[in-house]
Amino acid sequence: MSETTGSFSLGDQTVSMPVKAGTIGPSVVDIGKLYAQTGMFTYDPGFTSTASCESEITYIDGDEGILLYRGYPIEQLAEQGDFLETCYLLLYGELPTPTQSRDFNYRITRHTMVHEQMARFFQGFRRDAHPMAVMVASVGALSAFYHDSTDISDQRQRMVASMRLIAKIPTLAAMAYKYSIGQPFVYPKNELDYTSNFLRMCYAVPCEDYKINPIFARALDRIFILHADHEQNASTSTVRLAGSSGANPFACIAAGVACLWGPAHGGANEAALKMLTEIGTVENIPKYVARAKDKNDPFRLMGFGHRVYKNYDPRAKIMQQTCHDVLNELGRKDDPLLEVAMELERIALSDEYFIEKKLYPNIDFYSGITLKAMGFPVSMFTVLFAVARTSGWIAQWKEMIEDPGQKIGRPRQLYKGATRRDYVPADKR
Ligand code: SDX
Repeated sequence: MSETTGSFSLGDQTVSMPVKAGTIGPSVVDIGKLYAQTGMFTYDPGFTSTASCESEITYIDGDEGILLYRGYPIEQLAEQGDFLETCYLLLYGELPTPTQSRDFNYRITRHTMVHEQMARFFQGFRRDAHPMAVMVASVGALSAFYHDSTDISDQRQRMVASMRLIAKIPTLAAMAYKYSIGQPFVYPKNELDYTSNFLRMCYAVPCEDYKINPIFARALDRIFILHADHEQNASTSTVRLAGSSGANPFACIAAGVACLWGPAHGGANEAALKMLTEIGTVENIPKYVARAKDKNDPFRLMGFGHRVYKNYDPRAKIMQQTCHDVLNELGRKDDPLLEVAMELERIALSDEYFIEKKLYPNIDFYSGITLKAMGFPVSMFTVLFAVARTSGWIAQWKEMIEDPGQKIGRPRQLYKGATRRDYVPADKR
């Protein structure tokens, strides 16, 4: 990585800061010594211009709509690879050889069961609890069951915890779904691949054999690939910040699940489907587009816009195709929700407001229609996002822990509160 020096004038001061260049993408100004030199902090509440770390995992070019996992374009991985191969790539940095793949898949498969006490842990929830609430709790609860992989200073334990999380997150997600519909939990079957196993744990019942639909399994595996990682998004930054304190990996991933739940982030797929359902017909679209443009109306087109992509989210294009594949499989290529979504996209992309603000469909715009068509309830959409993103969170957490320059994250602030004042006794207030 090359380094130059930038000089900046701040009032009557001139400060010199190192400027570091990566392999691709914007360079960074290393402001680590700014406060010591100037007594001033930088201020960037949404981190719109702030790099929090160095990373080799995922690269996004928002203007060009490019997404690379360890240098490989998302389009090629989604078309030619599978999700566990993507997990290996994110974790180890290279595509696995056939032997490495077999070994990795074997190890993941044999960690898919959860401690039998976890089943009793679920009994404490109301049946109508939101599955994301159950996921936040149950992922964090893994810390209480797997003490032998919580020492983050031990490389072997870090890897065991990483494998356990990737392996067990679909089992917990399926248990959350089964619990919400009052059906018995289904144990994983080692003869199935990762995504087929998950579908069976969600949809099999004791009364009959479950037949995997290969179109659904392939579609969901591709959806997992698309959602696996995405640079330093809100939930990944949450995982990194939690991990920087030395918290165990299960607790850090639970923090990531909690952050992902928000409708501005991973909760947008649930919100986008609810929005499309509320719009209902093509005739209603102009009314909602007008609301999205109205500064006085908090309504936003869910599944539209992105902090980084100022072009079409490359994942949304693949998601749209996957949506067509699933609906065609079901003989529902004229699904009314898809019709509304495609007409809404057409209208929005030709509207000056969306063009000027560079608002395009993001990954959440078409995922909801696809998942609903596959039989998942809306409340499970963000859970599926969390299943996939656990691989990215773990890879980013591992990269942070293994960074020799890593230290606890501790931002500062611009203080706007009261200046020093003395205590006033209650009878004098
Ligand atoms: C994900 O960071 C990641 O990588 C996230 C993610 C990942 O894989 O981890 O890609 C997953 O979270 C995708 C995004 C899902 N969220 C949504 O679809 C919710 C709807 N979109 C937004 O709320 C919004 O676009 C964000 C949160 C995604 C991005 O917000 P920013 O970057 O903070 O931009 P902003 O809110 O400052 O908006 C810029 C302008 C504003 O207008 P002005 O104040 O400049 O006049 O665009 C407007 C906004 O009002 N705007 C929208 C809009 N999104 C932004 N107007 C209408 N509808 C929208 N969806």
